[in-house]
Amino acid sequence: MSALTMNLTATASEENSFDSAPEQTVVEDTVGFPLVDDPKIRARNASVFYGDKQAIFNIDLDIGKHEVIAMIGPSGCGKSTFLRTINRMNDTVDGCRVSGEFLLEEDNIYGSKMDVVELRARVGMVFQKPNPFPKSIFDNVAYGPKIHGLAGSRVELDEIVENSLKRAGLWAEVKDRLQQPGTGLSGGQQQRLCIARAISISPEVILMDEPCSALDPIATARIEELIAELAENYTIVIVTHSMQQAARVSHRTAYFHLGKLVEVNETEKVFTTPEHKLTEAYITGRFG
Ligand SMILES: Nc1ncnc2c1ncn2[C@@H]1O[C@H](COP(=O)(O)OP(=O)(O)O)[C@@H](O)[C@H]1O
Ligand SMILES: [Mg+2]
Repeated sequence: MSALTMNLTATASEENSFDSAPEQTVVEDTVGFPLVDDPKIRARNASVFYGDKQAIFNIDLDIGKHEVIAMIGPSGCGKSTFLRTINRMNDTVDGCRVSGEFLLEEDNIYGSKMDVVELRARVGMVFQKPNPFPKSIFDNVAYGPKIHGLAGSRVELDEIVENSLKRAGLWAEVKDRLQQPGTGLSGGQQQRLCIARAISISPEVILMDEPCSALDPIATARIEELIAELAENYTIVIVTHSMQQAARVSHRTAYFHLGKLVEVNETEKVFTTPEHKLTEAYITGRFG
């Protein structure tokens, strides 16, 4: 049994023990972050505040093109908050303030020239709970291409919808009922519909915030396969509370703790020979 498997087996039964924040209240030091050549996303000195409360502390991170990077760490450590900085979803939260530098290739994500609608078309998002629109399966996928004017004709729109559903691994299951409501699908199908909706406008990056946490193991396995396929064309940033999932789907893993990015390394390394003692404590199921 490899060290990776051993670590994961040892912690599997304790996976749900991280629902509350650990005892440590201060993260003293972090492991230096690796620079990525020609990254898709570059964050420097990123901080996020909710009112007076700081949720993210001075994070530096590069995310490569066609990389799947997993974000793990205890509940409340800032994974979702950091994820949402990338497509400015925090803009919609009252009292939330973001500082630092965020680049999507050479474009300043928080710059005055950035159009947020365009940003969210380039950086799509899939949420924890599948959230199809109360529309038909077809319209769920066609909506984005329509509002962004991506289809010149009905035939082109049909093609985009079909291709998106194919890439999301859902076409065979829905091709005969495209006019039925998206909300009538199973949970796993709904999540694949949401992925089809996200890719229908050809994003560069897909953010996924615990995309499988509402799904059964079979639907989860299907989404994980899909992530591997999508990585050929997109940059994927996935938040997961499952270390097993991070190990299965990601190239690199970032460990967050109390709003700090403690360590980011190759996934294999994080789960076998982590550099930071907090990472080690987390992956082996203990703290301190
Ligand atoms: N909308 C919000 N308003 C105020 N505080 C928030 C909000 N969202 C998250 N927080 C706080 O920010 C911290 C990080 O939360 P979050 O990013 O959701 O963590 P995670 O995704 O790792 O569980 C937590 O202390 C949480 O309570
Ligand atoms: Mg979260």
